Amino acid sequence: MTQLDERDATDSTAEAISAASRGSAEYRADPYPVYACLRESAPVCHLSPPHGVDTYLITRYDDAKAALTDPRISKDMYAAMDAYHTIFGDSSVALDDNMLFSDPPKHTRLRRIVNSAFSPRRIESLRPRIQQITDELLGKCVTTEPVDLLASFAFPLPLIVICELVGVPENEREDVQKWCAVVARTGFSKADKDKLAVAEGALRDYFAELIARKRENASDDLLGALIRTQDEQGAMTDGELLSTLWVLLFAGHKTTAYLIGNAVFNLLTHRDQLEKVLADPDLLPNAIEEVIRFEGSVENATFRHALEDIPMRDTVIPKGCLVQVAVSSANRDPEKFESPDTFDVERKGLQSAHLGFGSGPHYCLGAPLARMEMRIALTTLFEKFPRVDLVAPAREAEWLKVPFPAFRGLERLPVA
Ligand code: HEM
Repeated sequence: MTQLDERDATDSTAEAISAASRGSAEYRADPYPVYACLRESAPVCHLSPPHGVDTYLITRYDDAKAALTDPRISKDMYAAMDAYHTIFGDSSVALDDNMLFSDPPKHTRLRRIVNSAFSPRRIESLRPRIQQITDELLGKCVTTEPVDLLASFAFPLPLIVICELVGVPENEREDVQKWCAVVARTGFSKADKDKLAVAEGALRDYFAELIARKRENASDDLLGALIRTQDEQGAMTDGELLSTLWVLLFAGHKTTAYLIGNAVFNLLTHRDQLEKVLADPDLLPNAIEEVIRFEGSVENATFRHALEDIPMRDTVIPKGCLVQVAVSSANRDPEKFESPDTFDVERKGLQSAHLGFGSGPHYCLGAPLARMEMRIALTTLFEKFPRVDLVAPAREAEWLKVPFPAFRGLERLPVA
C-alpha cells in the first residue's frame, strides 16, 4: 500500500466510524458499505453514539458469533443500570425484566417457562389459523389501486398471530400496535425519551390490567397458561410476567413484519431469483433464510455490556462499555459467505450459519413461528398475485431512518 492509499483507508475508516456513531442518513439508507469498511479495517471499533454511552461495534462474523455466546458479555440490564438510564431514561426498566435482558440462571428459568409454547408441534398447530388470517388480509388487497403491503399485510399478519397466541383481545390490538410503534422508532433526544416514557407507561398499565382480567377469568391462551405456572416453584414474578408479555408481543410482530417487507422487496428486485422460487416452491424455505442473511430485519442485536475488560482483535473492550453486535454485517462477511453481497436463493448451508436470529442462549425463541409465517405469507402472496410488482423504482425505497439500527426494514412498500 502506498502512503496515499494508507491515508485514504484511514480517512474512509474514520468516516465509517463517524457514520455508524451518528446513525447518519446515508448509513441508515445503506449500511452495508460502512460495515464492509469496518470489517476490513476496524472490526471491533469504538463508537460515540448520540446517547452518550461508550459503545463497541462488532462487525465480523467470527467475532459476532463469539460475542453472542460469551458469558463475559452480559444481557442483564439491571447490572448496567446507569447505562440504561442514560440511553432510555427510566421508563424501560420494568418492561425489560425478561429473558431478552437477563443472564443465566434467571434467563434459563424465564425462557424455560415460555419455551413449550414455541415447540415445533405447538407452532405447527397454528398453521391453519395463520393461513386463514393471511387469506383474509390478502383478500382485502384485491384492488386496482396501489397498496402499501407493509400496512395492509406485513404488519397486521404477525400482530394478529402473536396477539391471538398470547390472548390480547381483537379490539385492543390497535393500541398495542400504536405503542409498540413508538418504542421501535425511538431516538435519543429528550423529546424522544418523553414520548417513549408515555408509550411504555401505557403498555405497562395495559398489560397489568390484562393480567388482572385473565386472573379473574381463566383463559386457555398463552397468558392464561403463564398465569397458571405462577403457582409453581421458580415461577415468574408479576413483574417478569408483565415484561415477558411485552417481549413476546414486541419481538413477535415488528421483526416478522419488517422481514416480510424485506423478502417481498428483494424478491421483486431480483426477478431471476423470484422466478427460481416460483418454478420450484421447495426452494422457498431456503430463499427465506437467504433473505434473513442478505437483508434480515434485525440489523444489530440488542444491547449487551462487558462485565470485564475483554481483549478482541487488536483492541480491548473496557469493562462497563456497551457492546453492539452487528448481525447484518456478520451475515455479509466474505470470510464466511462467498460473494456475500449477492442475493442467491440457492445458497447452501444457510440455516445453521446466518446470525439473523442471533446465536447462543438468546437465539430467537420465535424462529419456528417466524419461519412458518414467512412461508405462508410469501406462498399465498405470489399465488394470489403472480404479477405483483413495486410501484416506485427500487432506488426510491425508503428504509427506516431511526438513528439506532436495531431494525432493518422499509417505511412502506407500495405495490400494484
Ligand atoms: C430473540 C430475531 C421473530 C421472540 C431474538 C434475537 C434475534 C431475533 C436476532 C436475539 C437477540 C439478541 O441476542 O440480542 C428475530 C427475527 C424474527 C423474530 C429476525 C422474525 C423474522 C420472533 C417471533 C417471536 C420472537 C415471531 C415470537 C414471540 C423472541 C424472543 C427472544 C428473541 C422472546 C429472546 C430470546 C432470549 O432472550 O432467550 N430474535 N426474531 N422473535 N426473539 Fe426473535
